[in-house]
Amino acid sequence: MISDGSFGFMPDSTEVKYFVLANSSGMEMTVLNFGGIITSLKTPDRDGKMADIVLGFDNLQDYLDQSPYFGAIIGRYGNRIAKGKFTLDSTNYSLAVNNIGNHLHGGLIGFDKVIWDVTPFDSEKGVGLKLSYLSKDMEEGYPGNLNVSIIYFLNNENELEIDYSAITDKKTVINLTQHSYFNLRGDGDVLDHELQINANKYLPVDSTLIPTGQLAEVVGTPFDFKTPKKIGRDIDADHPQIRTGGGFDHCWILEGQGLKFAATAYDTHSGRVMDVHTTEPGIQFYSGNFLDGQAIGKGNSVYSKRTGLCLETQHYPDSPNQDSFPSTVLNVGEEYRSKTVFKFSVRQ
Ligand code: GLA
Repeated sequence: MISDGSFGFMPDSTEVKYFVLANSSGMEMTVLNFGGIITSLKTPDRDGKMADIVLGFDNLQDYLDQSPYFGAIIGRYGNRIAKGKFTLDSTNYSLAVNNIGNHLHGGLIGFDKVIWDVTPFDSEKGVGLKLSYLSKDMEEGYPGNLNVSIIYFLNNENELEIDYSAITDKKTVINLTQHSYFNLRGDGDVLDHELQINANKYLPVDSTLIPTGQLAEVVGTPFDFKTPKKIGRDIDADHPQIRTGGGFDHCWILEGQGLKFAATAYDTHSGRVMDVHTTEPGIQFYSGNFLDGQAIGKGNSVYSKRTGLCLETQHYPDSPNQDSFPSTVLNVGEEYRSKTVFKFSVRQ
């Protein structure tokens, strides 16, 4: 079932709409045409009690004024590009520098702040939305008219499948992701969530959160989530990379190819489990370190430090400037494709 309604108006009077998707297993998700933002995601706990497990706001104005990318699609480039500069075929490109001297999450008006064309659809297997957006040549400084389509499909097995695709008419770079902040308990902090990440290595960063280029082994460090571990256990460990990130805010290098296991988060209190599979080579695990209680969210929730966690599937940060990283270049005539599946279940 899909219903829709008005969520308010942009400063230029464009209407922002919400779409509510309900699958046949009782899961419900609400999405805006603004930023493709997932404003709510309701799943049952081990006793069948529903809770909203993503952070967000009740009104458009808060998303416009103060959102730290809650629930949004991120592009053209998720994560950071050092000093907002990169070069393609000897042409230098300059992007907005919006995060301590670097470019973050696509710039000043990234894909999280634009209006998408939304087409709802349903099938025997579930309910979905197709979101499309044409990012014009040199929008936010990136070359090429980029035609982007993203499909959110909530299937009846309680999986949220996200399919990203894009084509360009000029050589460009692209790294799309989804920036939902999850709290599987539905409130409080995420320090008791157990997390597993399918990675032997992660990318250490400099003081501005740009990868140094080195690939570091997780073993023997706070970054070892190869077997499930409470997020709170090592989050304040005396480790230089934890100090730099203010907790976890790093890209882990996933093992395996194709649509592979990336991570599992499990909340021991509610029994809720979220498994993540992706075709991407990396995952940014961000432990909500910058949340500071200033943002008052849905139903007057106070979002203080570490009340949400992000698992952003993606290529590595700063790839356009780091030749040893998997390429984020999209050529004319090629199609960018990426898929991530979030599966929700419970443990007794
Ligand atoms: C990403 C970054 C973090 C932070 C958040 C938004 O996850 O890695 O450093 O900027 O987005 O607050």
